[in-house]
Amino acid sequence: MQLSYIKFFMLFTSFTVSAQQTQLGKTAVKDLVKKMSVEEKARLLVGTGMPGWVGLTKLPNPPKMKVPGSAGKNMAFPKYNIPELILADGPAGLRIKPERDNVSKKYFATAFPVATALASSWNAALVKEIGEAIGNETKEYGVDLLLAPGMNIQRNPLNGRNFEYFSEDPLVTGTMAAAYVNGVQRNGVGATLKHFAANNQESNRFGVNEHISQRALREIYLKGFEIAVKNSQPWAIMTAYNKINGTYVSENKELLTDILRDEWKFEGLVMTDWFGGYGSEDEVRANKVSNVAAQINAGNDWLMPGTPQQIEAVIKQVKSGKLNTSAMDKSAERILKIILKSPVFRNYKYSDNPDLKAHAKISKQAATESMVLLENKSNTLPLKLNGKKVALFGNTSYNFISGGTGSGDVNEAYVVSLLDGLKNSGAKTDVRLSSKYLPYIKIEDSIQTERRKREGALSKYIRIREMPFSDAEIERASNENDFAIFTIGRNAGENGDRPVSDFYLADDEKVMIDRISSVFHQKNKKFIIIMNIGGVIETLSWKDKADAVLLSWQPGQEAGDAVAEVLSGIVNPSGKLAQTFPKDYKDVPSSNSFPGIPADFPLDSNYNEGIFVGYRYYDTFKIPVAYPFGYGMSYSQFDFSDLKVQNDESSKTLQVSFTVTNSGNTEGKEVAQIYVSAPHQKMKKPIQELKVFAKTELLQSGKSQTFSVTIPYYDLSSFDSATSSWKLEAGNYELRVGNSSQNILIKQVFHVSNPTMVLKTENLLKPDRVVNEL
Ligand code: BGC
Repeated sequence: MQLSYIKFFMLFTSFTVSAQQTQLGKTAVKDLVKKMSVEEKARLLVGTGMPGWVGLTKLPNPPKMKVPGSAGKNMAFPKYNIPELILADGPAGLRIKPERDNVSKKYFATAFPVATALASSWNAALVKEIGEAIGNETKEYGVDLLLAPGMNIQRNPLNGRNFEYFSEDPLVTGTMAAAYVNGVQRNGVGATLKHFAANNQESNRFGVNEHISQRALREIYLKGFEIAVKNSQPWAIMTAYNKINGTYVSENKELLTDILRDEWKFEGLVMTDWFGGYGSEDEVRANKVSNVAAQINAGNDWLMPGTPQQIEAVIKQVKSGKLNTSAMDKSAERILKIILKSPVFRNYKYSDNPDLKAHAKISKQAATESMVLLENKSNTLPLKLNGKKVALFGNTSYNFISGGTGSGDVNEAYVVSLLDGLKNSGAKTDVRLSSKYLPYIKIEDSIQTERRKREGALSKYIRIREMPFSDAEIERASNENDFAIFTIGRNAGENGDRPVSDFYLADDEKVMIDRISSVFHQKNKKFIIIMNIGGVIETLSWKDKADAVLLSWQPGQEAGDAVAEVLSGIVNPSGKLAQTFPKDYKDVPSSNSFPGIPADFPLDSNYNEGIFVGYRYYDTFKIPVAYPFGYGMSYSQFDFSDLKVQNDESSKTLQVSFTVTNSGNTEGKEVAQIYVSAPHQKMKKPIQELKVFAKTELLQSGKSQTFSVTIPYYDLSSFDSATSSWKLEAGNYELRVGNSSQNILIKQVFHVSNPTMVLKTENLLKPDRVVNEL
């Protein structure tokens, strides 16, 4: 009796212990995963589908969602205390649906400047602040993991998603992405770097095979991710759809395990892009299945958004032995570790009420600091707006584009048009012009909206033809106004690249610019052009027709007010291009190979330009450009001085210091860009490469700021594919400091006496065919 009581007691305690052990948060994740069945783990690793859809079929009566408009989630397991994590898009703000059933309140999110704009600020602290605000909205709207930032290299200006990405340069890209992630994650929500890696085109994004040399991968396409991972430890990384050298990224163990985790020490989880590894959307519709064994074995933990077929396949592949149980367990552990940190796990009571007013202010400040002044003949700008009569031309002036389309779109409460921005600054805008433009835009815009509703979220943006005006009307406007403004608008987004024609102005735009320019100039009145674009366009043929050209990019919801602040000089422009504006599309190094072969549906894309992307190409091969990388004007002038370079061969670092002085009359900020030109020994090198950058604080006239930076040899080294190592060659190097890649103001030579192998790596990501490089 006594004995059986003891036995029963022992049984009971071991039962309670095991029940406790199967609760997330109460016991080691490893033990919990051991307790889960294969079926349960399969359901954890495969998402529950896009909310309201099964595969790519929309459900007629979708179940109620916790956060309408979010992009995906995992399955919850109440018995293990595993909640569902909510994932929603960025990067220009949180992407959720404003409308909810039977609720009059709208759940708007703040539209911030697009990533390309943010990069033009060259201000990582500012980008961190934006990340913090977006992270706050993420948390306060009940989302756990933000699917942002996007950080692919802007290899070619026609990529439809360039606006979601930062730059043609990996250092700018990686630094900005790290700042963004650090800002987001300060809130206790996660950020996701995407799309890892080389997702540089939308044409056949699901299936294109990109042939890239190991050196170009390491130095250009992976470098930004490496910087961001090492400096921000994001919760998650989203794999790109494309193949690299014959293997889908989501199935690429060398990339996801050997490089990302073993070399860079990434600790978070890896998820696919939506239906990544499927080859095409048609395969999803046909109920086919991605190679789940290859994906999970490679270290791609989460299959998003997930299909029922993938769950079955995971179970089957574990049973067949193709999917390693240990890989599956590791993936489950990584997912659970992220869930453990999430707001939903911590039972965070989100308010559904973020401080949108405060965030609007941050959005406007970032927009003004991201704008790039490209032309300013005879100090046309700044100009007084208050009380001035303005002839405002261009459809987009009345319908400013805050950001791009597709999953990078944000559902904001409003966008301040340039018309309203000018009015808010006290300008008197020409009423006869606005009374023609506004109804025209209204009709054209509603046609677009209807079409896009019919075609779905990923439908293409079609530019509205410029509203035509008679000569007499322009003549009248020139008589009655003090100056004229014309806005060039461009938009694009996910699922399509821009056609070459979109790089150039259309005839209707050219005609308007020509006519306004000649009529206003005849009367000695100024003409200003605003570029409201998300990607690089041709400028050379028309820029001289304007007295000033301001690149506002797609600046988020406060657009018009931000433009007005820069035009009127409330803010002195300090943005610099994070991508080159070539003279012509044919000058782009990838113009012959983008988007691949065959051009209408590329199966293969050859990265023949190798490491010579952007300014690395134009500067090295002396191809004249319209505006170089790093370029941007100010209303003030800045001097660079006191350059000191100390090369410490023992610690393998370079110590650099220099001073920037505002020598003009207006307070402002300047960006110091440090390029290094390496000796040309055995390895082919770009003539110079950006190694560090720094933005000054707001400097009053006459004031200076001194910078001291350390550059490790690793950052100076180049990847040698033959030996799989990062090498620094011996010889004379030149350190150059300037405010664009083509405006170096101070420089100094330093000498490296011995060739150094800075880091040896594994021989990974070998090309699957010969890549003939420049
Ligand atoms: C996009 C991702 C996005 C995902 C979820 C995909 O189509 O490529 O950037 O995060 O959808 O919306």
